[in-house]
Amino acid sequence: MKRHTKGPAASNLAAALVLLVLCAAVLIRADAAEPRRMNFDHTQTGFPLIGQHARAQCESCHIGGIFKGTPTQCASCHMQGSRIAVTVKPANHMPTNAPCDQCHTSTVTWTGARFRHMGVLPGSCTQCHNGSMAPGKPANHVQTTASCDTCHRTSAWVPATFNHATVLPGTCAQCHNGSQARGKPANHIQTTASCDTCHRTSAWVPATFNHASVLPGTCAQCHNGSQARGKPANHVQTTASCDTCHRTTAWIPATFSHATVTPGTCAQCHNGSQATGKPSGHFVTTRSCDACHSTTAWTPVLRYTHSSPNYKPHNAGVTCKQCHTSNGETITWPFAAYQPDCAGCHASRFKPDAHKKTQTPTTVLYTVSELRNCAGSCHLYTDNTFTTIKTTRSSHHRSTDGGF
Ligand code: HEC
Ligand code: HEC
Ligand code: HEC
Ligand code: HEC
Ligand code: HEC
Ligand code: HEC
Ligand code: HEC
Ligand code: HEC
Ligand code: HEC
Ligand code: HEC
Ligand code: HEC
Ligand code: HEC
Ligand code: HEC
Repeated sequence: MKRHTKGPAASNLAAALVLLVLCAAVLIRADAAEPRRMNFDHTQTGFPLIGQHARAQCESCHIGGIFKGTPTQCASCHMQGSRIAVTVKPANHMPTNAPCDQCHTSTVTWTGARFRHMGVLPGSCTQCHNGSMAPGKPANHVQTTASCDTCHRTSAWVPATFNHATVLPGTCAQCHNGSQARGKPANHIQTTASCDTCHRTSAWVPATFNHASVLPGTCAQCHNGSQARGKPANHVQTTASCDTCHRTTAWIPATFSHATVTPGTCAQCHNGSQATGKPSGHFVTTRSCDACHSTTAWTPVLRYTHSSPNYKPHNAGVTCKQCHTSNGETITWPFAAYQPDCAGCHASRFKPDAHKKTQTPTTVLYTVSELRNCAGSCHLYTDNTFTTIKTTRSSHHRSTDGGF
């Protein structure tokens, strides 16, 4: 018996039995004449003394001074029932019958053993991962009785993943309550609705929401800035329901149906804060927007209907500002002396030569003042007494003509 055959079988009992028999046999042979060999080069034996083995007394292994036949399998010594007084596989050790050195490569310490998960059956994780045999769930772990591999792979605990394939709609909060799986952060919009009302299982962001069952006018129940997106700080000031101006598909563009708007009330909204207001440099007026604008577009401006008799209707090509040079309601008459007649604006365009009062013997011309309304009698008289009309000229000017 030069060397021990393979280590004893799995069960502690069997191991102990075999050891006993072997040791007894060795004891008888060694008795004869084997002196202690203190300077013995132990590497020769094929069992080099490394780590704690090197520090141990010879007798720890060679009980009774018997050298030959000392078992080499770790389990032969490090098992319950071994004759050798040494650390044995603890009772709470993970269930395995594999040779110790498959996982324990150190002779200094038992801790830090690595475990290859090859061949581990799905769902069997807790057999070992119960906190005593192998690392279990830390105290702050999400509460779950599911097998570890529901959420973990064997290569690492983090990141935890979860296959939502079998999850029933509406049951999300069973896990996503902040203890079993990620819950709503503290600043989450306040809602008791099931997570999947707004979230998919693939990612929390972006949150989406199916508005199909939302009743008109109820938007602000959620869209108050805490439950769902609310009005930004610079939003037009309004207490109207969001759907007055917004659809559910997107905030922009905002639209608004003017169907029920009472004429003359436009500025309630169109004040530059609630809805588009007058841009800077706008025609100075306090009148309601609809005096000049339609509800469909700001330009072109509807022709303003003047109430002033001083206004002479002109072609559309003549813009407000051409007369309203001060960009306000009152007119700065270019030739104030002739206001409110045509000449009040057109005196400079008066051509005296074309307005003869008499031709012979002396040529007398009309004055602007005489023809200030462009429509007065522009007769040609026979002489300076201006009593007999020689020619009647009736082609006076109209402001709606193309020219004078
Ligand atoms: C940790 C256990 C352990 C310790 C400690 C130990 N040995 Fe050994 N020794 C063995 C093992 C195992 C064998 C190999 C037995 C075999 O292969 O048959 C062995 C073999 C031997 C042999 C060869 C026996 C033979 O003829 O085949 C001698 C001699 C020996 N040891 C001497 C010593 C001495 C001296 C010490 C103390 C300095 C010592 N051993 C400490 C475990 C140990
Ligand atoms: C022949 C018996 C014997 C064999 C075989 C043996 N050991 Fe040891 N082992 C011992 C003794 C004796 C000690 C020293 C105990 C002490 O220091 O009190 C020890 C110590 C250790 C220690 C240090 C921690 C502790 O328990 O004190 C480790 C780790 C260890 N052995 C691992 C192994 C491994 C791994 C194998 C197999 C590769 C193995 N041993 C094989 C007898 C053995
Ligand atoms: C399949 C791998 C595997 C096998 C085989 C195995 N062990 Fe372990 N053992 C481990 C792991 C993993 C640990 C825990 C290590 C840790 O806590 O760092 C452990 C822990 C131990 C501990 C406790 C360490 C401590 O300080 O908590 C001892 C003692 C031990 N094993 C002895 C043995 C003995 C003896 C054998 C052979 C009879 C054996 N083991 C077989 C993997 C194994
Ligand atoms: C036979 C026992 C055993 C079984 C069954 C087992 N493990 Fe392990 N596992 C261990 C031991 C021991 C360790 C610690 C030693 C190590 O890290 O290698 C470990 C480590 C891990 C680690 C940490 C790996 C690392 O490198 O940080 C993960 C993750 C893990 N196991 C997941 C699982 C999962 C998932 C299952 C079920 C499919 C499972 N284990 C089944 C024994 C087992
Ligand atoms: C329902 C899913 C789920 C199940 C089942 C589950 N875990 Fe976890 N586990 C998690 C989540 C989520 C984390 C946190 C991961 C993170 O921080 O990224 C976690 C974290 C851990 C961590 C801490 C990782 C670290 O380093 O922070 C360990 C260890 C762990 N789990 C072990 C286990 C064990 C052991 C089991 C089985 C007994 C188990 N878990 C079952 C989801 C699960
Ligand atoms: C059985 C438990 C469980 C149920 C039920 C469940 N989840 Fe999860 N979910 C998890 C675990 C575990 C994770 C991974 C760890 C974590 O993120 O907390 C996770 C992750 C997520 C993630 C993050 C995905 C990523 O990769 O970032 C989302 C999103 C999610 N779940 C949504 C849902 C929704 C929506 C539902 C309902 C339809 C749901 N979950 C139901 C356990 C569950
Ligand atoms: C009514 C809709 C709604 C419901 C129901 C809802 N959420 Fe949310 N959740 C949101 C919105 C909106 C956000 C913000 C998303 C963003 O920042 O893009 C959000 C954000 C989150 C975030 C933060 C994502 C990140 O990384 O910033 C988490 C985690 C989350 N929700 C989890 C949940 C969980 C868990 C539930 C169910 C218990 C739930 N939510 C129910 C609408 C909802
Ligand atoms: C039960 C809560 C709830 C109600 C009621 C509700 N919403 Fe939402 N809405 C949400 C959530 C949650 C989102 C997605 C997260 C976010 O954008 O804040 C959302 C998103 C939107 C979006 C952005 C869509 C996108 O894809 O960009 C618009 C627009 C919107 N809602 C309009 C409305 C309008 C209009 C109403 C009223 C008819 C309304 N919502 C009623 C919860 C609600
Ligand atoms: C009276 C009409 C009106 C009402 C009512 C209204 N909005 Fe608006 N909203 C607007 C207009 C106009 C804009 C600017 C649109 C643009 O820039 O094209 C706007 C812009 C927004 C924007 C910014 C869009 C972006 O991305 O710039 C959000 C968000 C918004 N509104 C949310 C709401 C919410 C929430 C409500 C209800 C609580 C609401 N609004 C009610 C008219 C309205
Ligand atoms: C209850 C509020 C409200 C009232 C009253 C209102 N509007 Fe509006 N209006 C809006 C909103 C909101 C919009 C869309 C956002 C914007 O352009 O400011 C809008 C848009 C417009 C537009 C731009 C249309 C486009 O598609 O470009 C015009 C023009 C307009 N309104 C004219 C009027 C006129 C004229 C009146 C008075 C008869 C009026 N509005 C009364 C809220 C109102
Ligand atoms: C007395 C007539 C009048 C009134 C009343 C009036 N506007 Fe105007 N508005 C104009 C004229 C004229 C323009 C210049 C149009 C142009 O350049 O074609 C104009 C231009 C605008 C424009 C710029 C259009 C563009 O795209 O260039 C906006 C916006 C506008 N007005 C809004 C308003 C609002 C809001 C009100 C009511 C609070 C209002 N207006 C009242 C006459 C008026
Ligand atoms: C041909 C010159 C002319 C044009 C073009 C013109 N206006 Fe006037 N408008 C007047 C005169 C003249 C008055 C009376 C001023 C006065 O008596 O002080 C007047 C008065 C007004 C008033 C005061 C109220 C009223 O009805 O008398 C408003 C408002 C006004 N105009 C707006 C406009 C707008 C808007 C436009 C362009 C769409 C416009 N006007 C185009 C000449 C014009
Ligand atoms: C408040 C000033 C004002 C008054 C009053 C006025 N106009 Fe004008 N008229 C203008 C302006 C401004 C124009 C455009 C610039 C120009 O052609 O001088 C114009 C243009 C015209 C044109 C040319 C039209 C064109 O299409 O080019 C005729 C013709 C005209 N006016 C006739 C008259 C007549 C006739 C009267 C009196 C019944 C009159 N206007 C009163 C300001 C006035």
